[in-house]
Amino acid sequence: MKYIIAPSILSADFGNLQRDIEMINQSEADWFHVDVMDGVFVPNISFGFPVMAAVKKHAKKPLDVHLMIVEPDKYIQEFAQAGADRITVHYEACTHLHRTIQLIKAAGCKAGVALNPHTPVTLLQDVIGDLDLVLIMSVNPGFGGQQFIHNTYKKIQDLKHLIQGVNEDLVIQVDGGVGLQNIGTLVSAGANAFVAGNAIFATDDPAETISKMKSLTAN
Ligand code: DX5
Ligand code: ZN
Repeated sequence: MKYIIAPSILSADFGNLQRDIEMINQSEADWFHVDVMDGVFVPNISFGFPVMAAVKKHAKKPLDVHLMIVEPDKYIQEFAQAGADRITVHYEACTHLHRTIQLIKAAGCKAGVALNPHTPVTLLQDVIGDLDLVLIMSVNPGFGGQQFIHNTYKKIQDLKHLIQGVNEDLVIQVDGGVGLQNIGTLVSAGANAFVAGNAIFATDDPAETISKMKSLTAN
């Protein structure tokens, strides 16, 4: 099993973004996690295409784009052109989720759906075979540095059941409050991709923290 570490650049120092991107390039991280927030779907605004383009210019690893925006269909093509390898939209933001998933794939990207803490995984039953990734939010989306919600473990197990015999290669990603203290338990529960912002960037040696996270997935 390959485990993925995806540092969230939301927690990077935007005044030194190139430095932080190079740190990720040189680290054992697998993907760049790019959090796009619109101030409507979530109560915060992060960044959009100009920052995304700057990241793409320097990043040597895939861009995992997490869209916390309403009406994502309008922008999928543009995010794909801006260099997204994976695009994850929120279940709660998509009235026609099946169409949105097909749009992501038609744009040449891997397709993911994110679930807020209150959204049960069973709601994905009829699209699960079409997905490359499900992102289980372990905090309410909008901000870095929040506390991990414990019910996430149960949701990972529910998702494991849902994909059995249907889509066992699906990536089970967890985002929010993930760090050295819980990554091992999340691996045991069945998750295989981990987003971390604060737990990486608030440490003295972020590359070393990434390395530690990676080795905890191997135990
Ligand atoms: C939250 C974002 C996360 C966030 C995680 O809305 O989707 O990706 O950056 O930050 P930490 O790891 O600090 O909880
Ligand atoms: Zn995210």
